[in-house]
Amino acid sequence: MDSSVSNAAHYNDTVVRQFSIMAVVWGVVGMLVGVLIAAQLAWPELNFGVPWLSYGRLRPLHTNAVIFAFGGCALFATSYYVVQRTGQVRLFAGRLASFTFWGWQAVIVAAAISLPLGYTTGKEYAELEWPIDILITLVWVSYAIVFFGTVGKRRVRHIYVANWFFGGFILAVALLHVVNSAEVPAGWMKSYSAYAGVQDAMVQWWYGHNAVGFFLTAGFLGMMYYFIPKQAGRPVYSYRLSIVHFWALIFTYMWAGPHHLHYTALPDWTQSVGMVFSLILLAPSWGGMINGIMTLSGAWHKLRDDPILRFLIVSLSFYGMATFEGPMMSIKTVNALSHYTDWTVGHVHAGALGWVGLITMGSLYYLVPRLFGREKMHSIKAIELHFWMATIGIVLYIAAMWIAGVMQGLMWRAVNADGTLTYTFVESVKATYPFYVIRFAGGLLYLAGMVVMAWNVWKTAMAGRSVKVQIPAVAPAHA
Ligand code: HEM
Ligand code: HEM
Repeated sequence: MDSSVSNAAHYNDTVVRQFSIMAVVWGVVGMLVGVLIAAQLAWPELNFGVPWLSYGRLRPLHTNAVIFAFGGCALFATSYYVVQRTGQVRLFAGRLASFTFWGWQAVIVAAAISLPLGYTTGKEYAELEWPIDILITLVWVSYAIVFFGTVGKRRVRHIYVANWFFGGFILAVALLHVVNSAEVPAGWMKSYSAYAGVQDAMVQWWYGHNAVGFFLTAGFLGMMYYFIPKQAGRPVYSYRLSIVHFWALIFTYMWAGPHHLHYTALPDWTQSVGMVFSLILLAPSWGGMINGIMTLSGAWHKLRDDPILRFLIVSLSFYGMATFEGPMMSIKTVNALSHYTDWTVGHVHAGALGWVGLITMGSLYYLVPRLFGREKMHSIKAIELHFWMATIGIVLYIAAMWIAGVMQGLMWRAVNADGTLTYTFVESVKATYPFYVIRFAGGLLYLAGMVVMAWNVWKTAMAGRSVKVQIPAVAPAHA
């Protein structure tokens, strides 16, 4: 490394390193809380009678930690890395990028304190109270400035498709957060939503569904479009398809939210619009998945001995599974069975553990050695082990929830000839018990895999050093 060369000649990987490490740390923490609440559902004594350890307070802590801390840090890290590499330019506004790191960590710590203390708006995935909402807005606007500023000063004319997905995710999340968090403060940690009644529900699930579509999907598709071709050493299967994929996905997601409110006070036609757009959503989702998987065509053998590629490709098969299941569950008559049951939780974790988790892990395994000047991760065997622990953990989790969910739905709707209910609610809870234990075991295995990853990342980082990667002097005509 030549220290006489100015910073401007190097990529800004400091912030990428920081976010990557914290993604692993928050992954372990968020999943640990997930395992604890899974245990509480099987053995309620584990609430210990302590309010801040109770299930109701730890559940939103789990969802916030895994989505916004684990997933969020991974998205910041990968988008900052990808936008620099594909634009062949240093990150715009370095200090602002640093603020996004520290600001985002402050949001996470504020969530980790306020949620167990019982402060919540009561809106799922938007539970944080208004002062934290303001901090989120500041960080997010800074993120947009850094990301689009870097796109703006790129040295490669073409904007690679991964950046379209990251950019779409950043803009949509800004819109969702600002609209859904509009609230009237009534004290430092208390507020009332700006919307009331059914409008409040509609806005909330427009937000909730697009949090899935943009936070848990579009950003991670950005990862897919960069890291799969890189790791496989092949170009994207169809660049044309990737553009159609982008526009179709972002247009369709926006309308599907009402499928969360079937059979509620929401006007019936709105529910039908939600259902129809959810069914249409199968096409762009599978188009994207096929584009990712087919990138491997001609190089399938690489899957046999490259565990990183296996993480990336298997994540896509879970993505395909979740995005087939979702449209099915959005059909009103199917939803009448699945809603309120553990089937939904199984669907969520097929997407969360299978898609979001595995694509993140694969991308981080690609990134970490490069960020610390190593040729590869400390232990390839440990990556292999992690892959199997995660995959078996997911299968145990989602299979248990599918069976439990369908069973619950059928038990609740069963009626005797005289019109009385065949089962009491408590009977369905008792019947679910073994499945909660299996889900706990699957979750524990998945968490243990994450701990193996943390160890491997630690060893790799310790044996390496924070390298400065020089930006190529001459930018190519295309990326
Ligand atoms: C060790 C891994 C994990 C375990 C054991 C676990 C466990 C749980 C449990 C027990 C619940 C509550 C279910 C209920 O209320 O009936 C839950 C909810 C949830 N988890 Fe996880 N989880 C894990 C990882 C993740 C990850 C990595 C993500 C996201 C990236 C995630 C996203 C969610 C979401 C969105 C919900 C709310 C689901 C809903 O409202 O339907 N989880 N999790
Ligand atoms: C084509 C794509 C998808 C469609 C149409 C879809 C549809 C649905 C439907 C119908 C529900 C149940 C609503 C209810 O009965 O309450 C649901 C719940 C959910 N889905 Fe999906 N899904 C899709 C993909 C995904 C993916 C890829 C993920 C995760 C990465 C995901 C995460 C969730 C979450 C977190 C919930 C639970 C929300 C809650 O009640 O808290 N979905 N989805």
